[in-house]
Amino acid sequence: MDEQSIDKRDLEKQNAAKGAVKFIQNNDIVGLGTGSTAFFAIQEIALLVKNGLKIKGVPTSEHTAALAVSLGIELLPMDQVRTIDITIDGADEFDAQLNLIKGGGGALFREKIIASLTKNEIIIADSGKLVTQLGKFKVPVEVVPLALNYVLQQLAELKGTGKVRMKDNTPFITDNHNIIVDADFGLIGDVAGLAERLNRIEGILAHGLFVNLTSKIIMGKGTETIIYAGN
Ligand code: A5P
Repeated sequence: MDEQSIDKRDLEKQNAAKGAVKFIQNNDIVGLGTGSTAFFAIQEIALLVKNGLKIKGVPTSEHTAALAVSLGIELLPMDQVRTIDITIDGADEFDAQLNLIKGGGGALFREKIIASLTKNEIIIADSGKLVTQLGKFKVPVEVVPLALNYVLQQLAELKGTGKVRMKDNTPFITDNHNIIVDADFGLIGDVAGLAERLNRIEGILAHGLFVNLTSKIIMGKGTETIIYAGN
């Protein structure tokens, strides 16, 4: 990617973030996403808070928690909330039916619990994230380390090839002290079906297929934003 297209992507992310924060209302409990796109939303939320907006944030990762605190956003831990009014998070891939692959940053478990608690889950993305069929991006799967061999065998039964994610030559460890397997299923024809099958494998804490969790996706495209919304 050349420098110009990197700038273009950042501008799209930022425009999507600016569009999404307009849906936040005073006194909302707000889920704070993880990743380079959610970063822009957290910056925008911090600005609103500085200007008097009263919200409490629920972070989807330790990294996001530290960022939010550094910007003056008050936080609530996820185990202390029953519902979240609105969450703004990113995605690695999405389709026009609002199915997502998430977890490129390894925060998928907390992102999924927070999305499940959320009334209005808004995904923000640059235009490079839109696909006609999910699956070019490998599906992140958070695995309890003891179950690794079993999970790899079960993924193979589903015609998936799993690889343990590495960082600095050692397995990447999540905020929940587990490992991530990035699973390649090729292009995924039946996203909901695969999500269901992955749900049934013991040892998988969460997987990165998000189905029926999103209310709208705001995608930056050039200097515009395009909204994909559910029925
Ligand atoms: C974090 O685990 C992810 O789900 C991110 O939301 C996703 O990887 C998108 O990240 P970027 O916004 O950095 O592309």
